[in-house]
Amino acid sequence: MGYVKAVVGMQYGDEGKGKIADQLAKDADYVVRFQGGNNAGHTIKIGDNQYILHFVPAGVFHGKKCVIGNGVVLDLDQLKNEIDTLNSQGFNVLENLLISENAHLILPSYVEESRTDRIGGTGRGISPAYVGKFSKLGLRVRDIINVQGHIDQVDRENRPDLVRLEDYLLKHSYLAPNIVNTARVLNDAITRGDNILLEGAQATGLDIDFGQYPYVTSSNASVGGACTGTGISPNRITKIIGVTKAYTTRVDRDGSGPLITQLDGEDGDFLRKQGNEYGATTGRPRRVGWFDAVLARHSVMINNPNQVVLTKLDVLDGFPVVKICTGYELDGQIIRNYPSDAIVQRKCKPVYEIMDGWKRGVAGCKSWKHLPEEALRYVSRIEQLIGSSITMITNGPDRKDFVYIGSQ
Ligand code: IMP
Repeated sequence: MGYVKAVVGMQYGDEGKGKIADQLAKDADYVVRFQGGNNAGHTIKIGDNQYILHFVPAGVFHGKKCVIGNGVVLDLDQLKNEIDTLNSQGFNVLENLLISENAHLILPSYVEESRTDRIGGTGRGISPAYVGKFSKLGLRVRDIINVQGHIDQVDRENRPDLVRLEDYLLKHSYLAPNIVNTARVLNDAITRGDNILLEGAQATGLDIDFGQYPYVTSSNASVGGACTGTGISPNRITKIIGVTKAYTTRVDRDGSGPLITQLDGEDGDFLRKQGNEYGATTGRPRRVGWFDAVLARHSVMINNPNQVVLTKLDVLDGFPVVKICTGYELDGQIIRNYPSDAIVQRKCKPVYEIMDGWKRGVAGCKSWKHLPEEALRYVSRIEQLIGSSITMITNGPDRKDFVYIGSQ
């Protein structure tokens, strides 16, 4: 009996999901992206080399089948760049790549449009592509094959958009052998007993429905998106893994999305530097802050993870005290539920619980038994506050920097 595991972000993205997916990809047969586009940037460090993935799932480093699901929006020119880069680094992407015929395209005009996006997105054409999809005006990956097979007179009249972009689509016809019904492929694989890893991009705090609206991305980055973005039924998902950093970060173009636990000044600079918190896609410095248990608890409610991975705990090494936000003060009241609305969030002040920092660093620890006592206390307090078990922490950028807690 195989498994279907879904990895989802619990904060505002950049939780280190790429590294977790890379780790879990080892015994998966299929690694699948299910939403978002090249607004995501998964950084994976292997030895001295660092790789950044935007579209291609992390299974590429393990020779696994890599699937771009129907929920993803795809920029064909950028995908080509990524394939070429990975090929030059010795990874044959096309050999194992399967792309959903139903995935929508990020057209060149969408990228232009999103450069002036009022809401401060990544400028990669993500919102216009999803607008195209839901207004039923979008082009899909399948259209590469449609134009190859030549479109008849009726379609020429009905689909001037397709005709206009015929050359653009034909330029990418090399992908035709990789374009398939991925819902069929994945469901057949599950029936056969293969292992499937569903790799989320962005995170619950950026989810179009449950995130910090309107400073969100345009897809369901929480676990529901793993079903609609692949065609896998919820009852076929066997394990949900939530990923959260040991602190919080937020990246956007002009700082408009509130970060309630934001840390400025020297402490903020130290955290940013120590955590190398600069966008993998945009290079923008990320805003940083203390761990927000209100947000994480909200993510636990929405995703109901079987286990949580706490990443980058080593980044807090060196702080004499660490703080956890346990509630928000709003209009003189303490609230404990996350408001999915930026207007409300802007009025919220963090309520902190202050704990001792750890005098000895967690970087380099190989077993949870070797973690400093204060760090273990921090981890178990977070578990208590969010109501979910932390089964793994990461304590360094390398692929090997993992500490398992308890049994898997
Ligand atoms: P969009 O997805 O480009 O529309 O951007 C919407 C919001 O999500 C902006 O605040 C982005 O900075 C943020 N965002 C999108 N993708 C990521 C990501 O992979 N990590 C962190 N933030 C992201």
